[in-house]
Amino acid sequence: MFMVIGNVLSDADLALVRGAVGKLDFVDGRSTAGRFAATVKANEQATATAARDSILELVRQRLLAHPVFASAARPLRFAPMLVSRYRHGMEYGLHVDDAIMGGTRTDLSFTLAISDPADYDGADLIVEDTFEPRAVRLNAGDLVLYPSTTLHRVAPVTRGERLAVVGWVTSQIRDCGQREMLFDLDRAVNEVFAREGKSALFDTLAKTRSNLIRMWAEV
Ligand code: NI
Repeated sequence: MFMVIGNVLSDADLALVRGAVGKLDFVDGRSTAGRFAATVKANEQATATAARDSILELVRQRLLAHPVFASAARPLRFAPMLVSRYRHGMEYGLHVDDAIMGGTRTDLSFTLAISDPADYDGADLIVEDTFEPRAVRLNAGDLVLYPSTTLHRVAPVTRGERLAVVGWVTSQIRDCGQREMLFDLDRAVNEVFAREGKSALFDTLAKTRSNLIRMWAEV
């Protein structure tokens, strides 16, 4: 499942994060790329400092509190997140993310936009699909969530700079298709409850959802 989730960071969060980003030091992003991805990676990322970690902790808290993210990703753990920066001419060529990062399996990848899209050109995230490549250009504060199994790239920046937080999730539900069914069931359960309260249909749907999670979840 491929999804854009709006307003993960509020305007107040964004102001805080942008203020903090100004104090960070950035280094060549190849330091955290796998052997093959390093040959196509040309961006920068913030060095690990208390200021960077406070940004990443804020993002983690907002993600854990976000109902759509919770339903779509069902996070068990996060791999270490990064603050990434693409300046004029930088890009990240076609690659697949490492299967294991920071000792945890990567099921889902995400990019959370810090920059306003009016401030740069290029830098679309392009995810290859079995059908056709999809290009994503996010508003500040929005997040794109996509399977880590995909080939993807970031197009070259032709003006300005693009700041984002990138990260990876180990999901309680490893299989993408099962995760999507549970996401749909969440919506069905919520809609039935809103329409008719705790009816017999609601109880049946809620029971099925719970038992599928019991069958599939790794915790
Ligand atoms: Ni990637």
